[in-house]
Amino acid sequence: MDESRGSIMLRDLALSSSLAEDALSGRFFAFEGIDGSGKSTISQAFADRLESDGKSVVRTAEPTPTWLGEQVRRGNREARSEFAEMFLYVADRAEHSVRIAEWLKAGRSVVCDRYVGSTLAYQSVTLRPYLGGRALEWLRTVNDPIIVRPDVTVLLKIEPEVAVERIAGRREREKFEHVEFLRKVAMVYARLAAEDPTYLVVDAMASQEEVLEQVWEQIGKY
Ligand code: TYD
Repeated sequence: MDESRGSIMLRDLALSSSLAEDALSGRFFAFEGIDGSGKSTISQAFADRLESDGKSVVRTAEPTPTWLGEQVRRGNREARSEFAEMFLYVADRAEHSVRIAEWLKAGRSVVCDRYVGSTLAYQSVTLRPYLGGRALEWLRTVNDPIIVRPDVTVLLKIEPEVAVERIAGRREREKFEHVEFLRKVAMVYARLAAEDPTYLVVDAMASQEEVLEQVWEQIGKY
């Protein structure tokens, strides 16, 4: 895979000279999927396994547990503009990306629960009423300058009905956790995976052990 992807981007942007100079040597794994797909559990288990395999691993997630992530969660509850909400996700990611680049540069592997794929998939649905068919391309343009490109994005694929069933037993449903909405999000995820060879699609209807095994077999042991 392209080792230089992150550094080229950061150099182009001149985000910081110390970040821009060196190639990012760790590997960057992003986990994506609709709510209830099990990505938090699987990404945690994957990170644990990488660690027991001797790697230095940072496990991280979006929305982040920072002041920007707090605003994202607040926006998720209170924003009346879908654009305001989207820019909060992007602001949180811009800051997060700087830290991710630092971890990778230090030779650590990064396992991230939700990253740019979440904005492309979820916000292209919420912004479709305003941007129509241009939504996805527009979101790519907004995100491209502020991301570190993952080496692999694992997409956990699950039927929206099953995902919502799983969530129902867990907590009160949040605004994005409805079948009709998640079906649309899942369709965008499928398109992202079809267009991007760095996506790995995994059947998340299987047991946790089986899902982890599939992910490990394909990307973990290298
Ligand atoms: P989630 O992974 O469910 O976080 P937590 O388990 O900590 O609540 O993410 C919260 C919601 O935010 C989820 O419904 C997906 C949504 N989301 C977006 O719509 N766009 C984004 O860019 C991100 C990161 C999340």
